[in-house]
Amino acid sequence: MQLRNVLPDDVDAYVRMRCDPVMMADLGGPLPLEGMADKVRRDAQQAATDLAWLKMIVPDPASPDVVAGTVTMWSHDTDDGPISEIGWMVLPEFQGRGLGKRAVRALLEQARDQGRWGLVHAFPATSNAASNSICRSVGFRFLSEVAVTFAGRVLTTNHWVVDAGKDLP
Ligand SMILES: CC(C)(COP(=O)(O)OP(=O)(O)OC[C@H]1O[C@@H](n2cnc3c(N)ncnc32)[C@H](O)[C@@H]1OP(=O)(O)O)[C@@H](O)C(=O)NCCC(=O)NCCS
Repeated sequence: MQLRNVLPDDVDAYVRMRCDPVMMADLGGPLPLEGMADKVRRDAQQAATDLAWLKMIVPDPASPDVVAGTVTMWSHDTDDGPISEIGWMVLPEFQGRGLGKRAVRALLEQARDQGRWGLVHAFPATSNAASNSICRSVGFRFLSEVAVTFAGRVLTTNHWVVDAGKDLP
């Protein structure tokens, strides 16, 4: 498994992840197709300038065009000040093989090795058993259940936090 920056050509994978009702079931439902190419371009630019870590998961480095999903780390403002957040998605045909967990662990190890991002927060939906398992397995601590607004929808989530410098198993 390898992680590489999002590129403008990744629009098909973005559409399959973000515009699909099953993939988005725990994230408030599918997003509109319109604007997805612009979103990928903006993400690719942010990744290239290292403002955020926006990575595609490549299961087999010998086939770099085949992508299994994304894992991303970014910083944003909240009512309590700026926080670093991590999020992830794995396409259906690659789910259940441990790729999500390995990708999340790999990005947190990068954060640890570069001493960047500080405390990293994650907000999987309370109903998303696999994502909550990932948090538990890679060293996050559970804080509380919390309502989060994502793409204009309010989701019931579990708030997890990890200090990559100290908490990785
Ligand atoms: C959630 C998701 C990222 C999991 O990725 P994955 O690569 O299939 O997960 P893994 O194979 O790495 O498994 C991670 C853990 O979840 C468990 N798991 C996997 N599929 C599961 C399922 N359907 N139900 C319950 N647990 C599951 C695994 O046993 C593993 O647990 P462990 O850490 O205790 O060993 C993926 O299913 C997905 O993208 N779903 C749709 C989008 C989404 O929900 N994104 C996350 C929003 S927070």
